[in-house]
Amino acid sequence: MYSSISRNLCSRGRVCPALLSPYCQPLSWRERITRDQTQHWCVCPGQGQCVIRSMGSVARRRRALPSAFPVLEQPLQPVQQHVYEANLRNSIACQNKYVELREKIQKGGGENATVRHTQRNKKLLVKDRLRLLLDDEDFLELSPFAGLGLPYGDIPSAGCLTGIGRINGLWCVFIANDATVKGGTAYPITVKKQLRAQEVAMQNRLPCVYLVDSGGAFLPLQSEIFPDKNQGGRTFYNEAIMSAMKIPQVSVVCGSCTAGGAYIPTMAEETVMVHRIGTIFLGGPPLVKAATGEEVTPEDLGGATLHAEVSGCVDHFAWDEKEAYEYTRNIISTLNYELPEEEEEEDSLRKSRGEEEPVNCSEELQGLAPLNYNHSLDVKMVVSRLTDGSRFQEFKARYGTTLVTGFAKIHGNQVGIVASNGELSNEACLKGCHFVQLCDQRDIPLIFLQNTAPTPGLTLSTPQAEINSNRIKAQGSMMSAVACASVPKITVVIGGCHGADSYAMCGRAFDPNFLFLWPNARVSVVAPGHCDSLLPPGAEEKEQQVMELELNKRLKEESSAFFSSGRLWDDGVILPQDTRKVLRACLDIINQQRYQLSTERLQTPLLRI
Ligand code: COA
Repeated sequence: MYSSISRNLCSRGRVCPALLSPYCQPLSWRERITRDQTQHWCVCPGQGQCVIRSMGSVARRRRALPSAFPVLEQPLQPVQQHVYEANLRNSIACQNKYVELREKIQKGGGENATVRHTQRNKKLLVKDRLRLLLDDEDFLELSPFAGLGLPYGDIPSAGCLTGIGRINGLWCVFIANDATVKGGTAYPITVKKQLRAQEVAMQNRLPCVYLVDSGGAFLPLQSEIFPDKNQGGRTFYNEAIMSAMKIPQVSVVCGSCTAGGAYIPTMAEETVMVHRIGTIFLGGPPLVKAATGEEVTPEDLGGATLHAEVSGCVDHFAWDEKEAYEYTRNIISTLNYELPEEEEEEDSLRKSRGEEEPVNCSEELQGLAPLNYNHSLDVKMVVSRLTDGSRFQEFKARYGTTLVTGFAKIHGNQVGIVASNGELSNEACLKGCHFVQLCDQRDIPLIFLQNTAPTPGLTLSTPQAEINSNRIKAQGSMMSAVACASVPKITVVIGGCHGADSYAMCGRAFDPNFLFLWPNARVSVVAPGHCDSLLPPGAEEKEQQVMELELNKRLKEESSAFFSSGRLWDDGVILPQDTRKVLRACLDIINQQRYQLSTERLQTPLLRI
């Protein structure tokens, strides 16, 4: 297959996204032969180097051995080239938007707020706090774009960073307020983001660390924060439930903890507080003055000395932030987990797990990320760029072929893959239902690669009615199987996420452990361009056309991956070429619960009194 590569398909694997012809000159190729493979290097002015790999004799021999997981041969065919290139152009445009939004959120609440935070208030920025708290910068951030493009404005990172990073080798969820965004106050989206992070901690049994620096509720939106079940109070309810579930929680008071914010440290199992910058009180000095006429400093009213020596609200007094994160790391080292010894070398770890990189290059996923449903290539091309050695043991390969199911490994973790490959027909749903239950019975985590087809045809004839009703029944069965499967589930929306098909493919409502979108993904009740079935019948043709145009425009705007992520309908937008890395992190994170020494639920949470 490698010999068929055309030389002007320059690539980091085979087709370089940044270097489509005519920029890439065929004469600029270099070749390097290693033990396992032949590499072709393309040197292009101003663009760096891209590599094309060809299999060498050793790798070919290895491939010839019989294996339970055969290699999926999925090279890009010349006939698919125009679809690939259209997808690639769209992917590059979406990635530019991704980079632009990342730059925007990295500025937090802006220059003035940053100066106020660091110079006047003498506090560290969230990213510097995380640098001190975590083992390294290789953490999985959750929903970084949450808060962008909301009716009440852009709230960078929803005013709080959440994610999963390692502390002394242990994966922990962190929830860190960003006080440069309106004093770290909680908007409705902030509350939603915090609750989602707690849910991730509960679902995957991960310790949780709160870095609290918040002025409490963002008062202008109080009615959307306070009263309902999944609003402000739920954070505290979750803290109690998590504690009873033996999910450890530690908090660091590294700024204000006003009003509701005060309950986070007082309900956590262990709390560290920083001298001079940490305060805990229900109402601050201005409120005291208004109520009693008394003048009091924040430190005297609710500083670290008071809470460590008098009230007992906190357990560790830290002179500065650096010391606070050292205390926190020490606390984490006492938790009831026994992690396996770490392999010294990453390479030997990979070898012991039998990991191989995909034969087909992950960079090519950018051209496989569909621009729209009509630009979807065979999903096995995606699978072969995600699994170890591009290996895949397909299940029911000849039945219900619009859904691809089978077993594979991702960085040595066995998984069951359920991937959309067209309309979710009756047969496809029956197959999906069977496969999901199979994985559930065998305790194999499921990975859903979702790209739902546009709405099926209307029921205008008896045969169509029969097809549709069979499909609905089978879809119902698949939804039930997915909902009840007790194995971990990870969903990646690689294309469309529309209508009921998205539920059967483990959309957000079906509670996957993690759900990510590629930047090209579209999320809406129907796909843009397919809304005719939603228009009211009986209207005049011209009127219908106007309505259709308007609805499609709206669907296009509201279905973008960034619109979805801004509202926290997912755990973040990830780049296609990073998918394997993200899946690996998620699987490692999910597996950590095996090493917790005792997990039986207690009757009560840990109480401070
Ligand atoms: N609701 C809405 N906006 C708030 C707010 C709140 N509860 N608390 C602070 N803000 C806003 C401020 O108006 C200011 O906005 P601006 O940048 O547009 O001027 C911004 O957040 C930063 O506040 P500021 O007071 O300038 O910063 P600071 O670092 O000196 O103090 C706090 C931050 C949070 C300690 C302080 O603002 C405070 O104590 N706020 C009141 C907290 C409170 O009483 N909450 C009750 C919630 S029920």
